[in-house]
This record gives sequence, structure tokens and C-alpha cells, in this order.
Amino acid sequence: MSKTAALLQWIDDRFPLTSTWKAHLSEYYAPKNFNFWYYFGSLALMVLVIQILSGIFLTMHYKPDANQAFGSVEYIMRDVPWGWLVRYIHSTGASMFFVVVYLHMFRGLIYGSFRKPRELTWIFGMLIYLCMMAEAFFGYLLPWGQMSYWGAQVIVNLFGAIPFVGPDIAIWIRGDYVVSDATLNRFFAFHVIAIPLVLLGLVAAHIVALHEVGSNNPDGIEIKKKKDPKTGIPLDGIPFHPYYTVKDIVGVVVFLMVFTVIVFFIPNMGGYFLEDNNFFPADPMKTPPHIAPVWYFTPYYAMLRAVPAMFSSQFPGVIVMGAAVLIFFALPWLDRGRVKSIRYRGPKFKVAIAAFVVSFFILGWLGVNPTDFLGKVGSSDLELATLLARVFTIIYFLFFLLMPWYTSSDREKPEPERVTG
Ligand code: HEM
Repeated sequence: MSKTAALLQWIDDRFPLTSTWKAHLSEYYAPKNFNFWYYFGSLALMVLVIQILSGIFLTMHYKPDANQAFGSVEYIMRDVPWGWLVRYIHSTGASMFFVVVYLHMFRGLIYGSFRKPRELTWIFGMLIYLCMMAEAFFGYLLPWGQMSYWGAQVIVNLFGAIPFVGPDIAIWIRGDYVVSDATLNRFFAFHVIAIPLVLLGLVAAHIVALHEVGSNNPDGIEIKKKKDPKTGIPLDGIPFHPYYTVKDIVGVVVFLMVFTVIVFFIPNMGGYFLEDNNFFPADPMKTPPHIAPVWYFTPYYAMLRAVPAMFSSQFPGVIVMGAAVLIFFALPWLDRGRVKSIRYRGPKFKVAIAAFVVSFFILGWLGVNPTDFLGKVGSSDLELATLLARVFTIIYFLFFLLMPWYTSSDREKPEPERVTG
């Protein structure tokens, strides 16, 4: 036995190194027909690592103190060697994380990856999504710019809209009557340690759950149903390593090309990745005329604004906005289709998913703009943007609420026996 083989044996006797490598890589049999949409899981993993590494270096120079935070970010940008690069990597990474994860979730929708037996993979994914939202929200306060400050004020006030207990909850979250140094300190703690720890645990659970049942694929059929009688290996499966580890490098290279172009040439992305107003230090005495969250939250923000206040409380809007996110958890039980993949779905599903995607984009566009940006409807008092937001909020919810009906009554095509190209 060679020295390396002996060392490996020594480790394997004490730690399941070889068996873990085999179970999750060299003998994890993934469907052979993965396409473009299957790049985004590994890309999400990579962006997570980029965020953690760049975050560690930012933390070395950032000061979580209301009097110093804004200045420390300017110091990172101007004086810390390569500080500007680390910061732009982190700010671009935040937006690109959402781009990648939205595409990853969309893949789940079109190929029915959330369906039995992958319900837990989906639920862990949704918990990851909630954590990412919390992580982005907490992180956004840290530069202590005008948008950081007022954005946090608006969102924390939403909790204040909960009947009876709301105002106390809002004070409890802020640690003060307004967003202040105490708020900044606790948001920093959540952003740099609490949420990342939970996120890492959830990502591990997400992948373990997926590998327990095996990956879905663009045909939406279970490759484990057709195994080689001798080896027990799925006939349409190929080892994840080396086939997909090598294939994923293509995705990584293309992604990094896009990523670096943004970091080096358009880090603000015209105000979408870094908002213009956040280049001004937080001023509790001066409310900006238009407060909007970063683009990845704007579909939900548009819904919040679309719902009329009741007894001058924003609570109904808060409920609708919360429901719009949480309803994704129910997907595995709303879909009654006999096939999983869009390739074999009928026309009703295709219309429904197209309408859903269009409403998500339009709501996102409405959410970045002030409510009066399209003027009023005719001679009425109603703003056109509010009317549109209401219509598309309804379409958004109909995608979910009508799903049991349109998936069970759709004209589907028969699934193939084996995966196609
Ligand atoms: C940090 C964020 C995330 C990471 C690192 C991550 C990672 C991964 C990886 C590596 C895979 C296997 C490769 C692939 O199928 O693309 C995967 C599969 C999957 N993920 Fe995620 N994921 C994340 C977030 C999410 C979210 C937010 C959802 C949905 C709510 C989700 C739902 C799924 C589903 C359903 C699968 C199985 C897909 C299939 O087999 O067709 N993931 N994820």
C-alpha cells in the first residue's frame, strides 16, 4: 500500500471521507440530461462563498457604530488597499445572489422539482430564501446611508402595523424608538454571524435532502425507476464527478465574466445594485422623497403599496406581502398535475406560468418607482401605477390559488419512459 493510500485508510477508519465523496460526488448518479437551468444551484453555492469571503474582509475595516459606519465604508472605498474591489464584489454579489436564486427557483417551477419526492428540498430552499431576504435587509443598514436608514425605518414600521402588539415589536426590533446605533449594532450581529450560520446549515440540509431522493431533470421523470439490474445504477444516470463538476465550470466561467464586468465597469448598475441616495450619510431629520428597496424586493414592495390601508393601518398590505412569499411553501401540495415538466404540461399551465412571470416583472418595475410615476387614471384620484399593481397582485395570487384546478384539468402530453436529450 502506498503512503497516500495508507493515510487515506487511516482517515477512513476514523472519518467517512471516501464514502462521503462517493455518495455525493463520484457515485452520485445525476440524470444525464441536465441543461442550462441546472447551472444555478452550483452558482448559488459559489456566490455564497464569495459573499462570506468578501464579507470577512469588509468586517476587518467596517465600524458598526452610527457615528463611524458611513465614514468607515468611505475609508474602505478610498484608503484600504483593494477595499473598493472587496466592497464592490460584496455589493454586486448581493444582487447576483438573488439573480441566481430567482433563476434557480424558476427552474424548480418549470420542471416541477418541488413535487414529490423533493418537497423537503423545496422547503429547505424556501427557508434559505427567507434567510437571504433577512440577510440582505440587515446588511443594507450597515453602510448607514440615507436609503439604509429610511429603508430600515419603513420595514421595521411594517411590524408596527400588527394590531395590538405591533408597536412593542417594532421597538423590540430596533432597540429604540427610532432606528439608531442600537439597531445598527444588532443588525450587524445578525448580518455577520447569526443569519450566515443558519444559511450554511440550511444549504447543507438542502443538498442532503436532494441527494437522498436524487435530482429531478428537464423531463421531470424519476431516473431511479429504471436501473441496471446488475449494478443497480440508474440507466439514465451519470456520476456527478467528473461529468457535472466539469460541466459546472462552464457556468462558473460565464458567470464570473458577467460578474467582473459589473464589478469593474458598472458596480452601481444605474442605481439598481447601489442606490443613488445611499451615497448620502443617514440623516434622521430628512426623509428622502422616494424610498424604495433594492430591486429584488420590489415585487413584494409594490404589493404592499397596492393594498389599501384599513382604519389607517397598513396591516392588510403587510399580510398580502407576507402571503406572497409564504405561498411558495405550499406549491408541492397545490400542483395536481400528472406530469412534472413543462415539456409535457398542457396549455393552461403554460399560460398560468407566463402570466405569473409577467406579473412578477411588472410588480418589480412598479416597486422601484414612486406610485405617482404614471399619473392618474382618467379624472379619478386613483394612480395608474396603483391600479396596475392591484391587477398584477391578483394575477400573481391566482397562479397559486387556481393551481389545483388548472393542473388537474390540463391537456397534458404523456411522459417518455426514459429521459430525452
Ligand atoms: C443559497 C441558496 C441556494 C443554494 C446554494 C442551493 C444549492 C442547490 C444545489 C447545489 C442544487 C443541486 C444542483 C441543481 O439542481 O441546480 C440544488 C437543487 C435544488 N434547489 Fe437549491 N439552492 C439554493 C436555494 C434554493 C431556493 C431558494 C430554492 C427554492 C425555494 C431551491 C430549490 C431547489 C430545488 C427544488 C432543487 C432540486 C432541483 C432538481 O433536482 O431539479 N434552492 N440547490
